[in-house]
Amino acid sequence: MSNDLMRFSVAMPEDLLVKFDRLVARRGLAKNRSEVIRDLVREALVEDECSIPGRIVMGTLTIVYSHHANDLQEKLHHIQHHYLEVVISSTHVHVDEDNCLEVIIMKGETGDVQDIGNLILGTKGVKTGRLVMTTTGQFI
Ligand code: NI
Repeated sequence: MSNDLMRFSVAMPEDLLVKFDRLVARRGLAKNRSEVIRDLVREALVEDECSIPGRIVMGTLTIVYSHHANDLQEKLHHIQHHYLEVVISSTHVHVDEDNCLEVIIMKGETGDVQDIGNLILGTKGVKTGRLVMTTTGQFI
C-alpha cells in the first residue's frame, strides 16, 4: 500500500456540509476538510478494530464514586486484583471531600477489556464512568 494521497469526491447534503465545516473550523487553523476527514476515518478504523473479537486493545476506564459508599473501594480493589493479567495500572485522585476519581488502564483482548469495564461500571456505588478503547493503530 502506498501513502500517496488519492483524491475522491464526496457528495453530502448541504446542511451536513455546513455543520462539518463548523467542526473543521473548531479544530483549528491547521485543519482543513481533507485532514478532518482523514482523522475521522482513522477514528472509525480504530473503533472498528476495537470491536473485533480477540484483538489486543488498550482500555482506559475512568470512574467517579463516593468513598463513603459501603465497601465499594474494597470491591473495586478485588476486581482489579482478580484480573491482574489485564489491569496494568490504576490512578486514584481524591476529587473533593466525598468523591474519588479513578483511572484504570488495561491491555488485553477486546472482550476481556469490555467485560472488566462493564463489571466495574456496573458495581453499585460507581456514579459515572466511561471506557475508552484504542489500539496502537499499526493497521492505519
Ligand atoms: Ni479518594
